[in-house]
Amino acid sequence: MTREKVLRGLPGRGKMEHTTTARHFIFGREMCKIGGHMSDLAPTVLLSAEDVQTRVKALAREISREYPPDEDLHLVAILKGAFLFLGDLIRAMDRNVTIDFMAVSSYAKGTTSSGEVRMIKDLDSGLEGRNVIIVEDIVDTGLTLAYLQEILHARNPRTLRTACLLSKPSRRKIDVKVEYVGFTIEDRFVVGYGLDFAEKYRNLPYIGVLNE
Ligand code: IMP
Ligand code: MG
Repeated sequence: MTREKVLRGLPGRGKMEHTTTARHFIFGREMCKIGGHMSDLAPTVLLSAEDVQTRVKALAREISREYPPDEDLHLVAILKGAFLFLGDLIRAMDRNVTIDFMAVSSYAKGTTSSGEVRMIKDLDSGLEGRNVIIVEDIVDTGLTLAYLQEILHARNPRTLRTACLLSKPSRRKIDVKVEYVGFTIEDRFVVGYGLDFAEKYRNLPYIGVLNE
């Protein structure tokens, strides 16, 4: 893949940023060649930055409407993938909210689910009597969310709901309830807007698909 092709694959940005991002992709391509998974790493745009922003704002309004302003609302984001989603979601909410973070790992490396969920960082505060929303980047097999819902439910929140930016229903291995879904997508491995492949691409403002 030529450098020009890498640059063409990206949405319009300033010249300086193009250069930096292109280097990032070229590096990523070499790394993935070693892993033997991908041959061309300029992600194809699946959901543009504008699509994502519009939908996240609509979700924020929907959530705000369903929780009276005088009630507490505590958003628990799952690191690392949900950090941008949380940031945009709460900035679009015209009400008091509190936030906390939990980190779990469900995939050892690459794009294959290990089916195993491990807690890496727990919450800073308890959930007893609070209105809690789990904020997750994507629900794929559902194993991570099922685990999270179970352990957070056991902490006796007043209400517990889940918001996921993306859902891949065809991949589900376990039935999980997700009250707020940003986009339903097909079975493609996606990156950007917080989502990674081997820790890369989280900084893309759009959701893209890696070309195989
Ligand atoms: P699940 O347990 O299979 O539902 O997987 C959930 C986690 O896997 C998500 O929180 C992501 O971190 C990761 N994941 C699943 N699908 C994708 C994808 O298409 N791109 C990036 N990460 C993914
Ligand atoms: Mg995640």
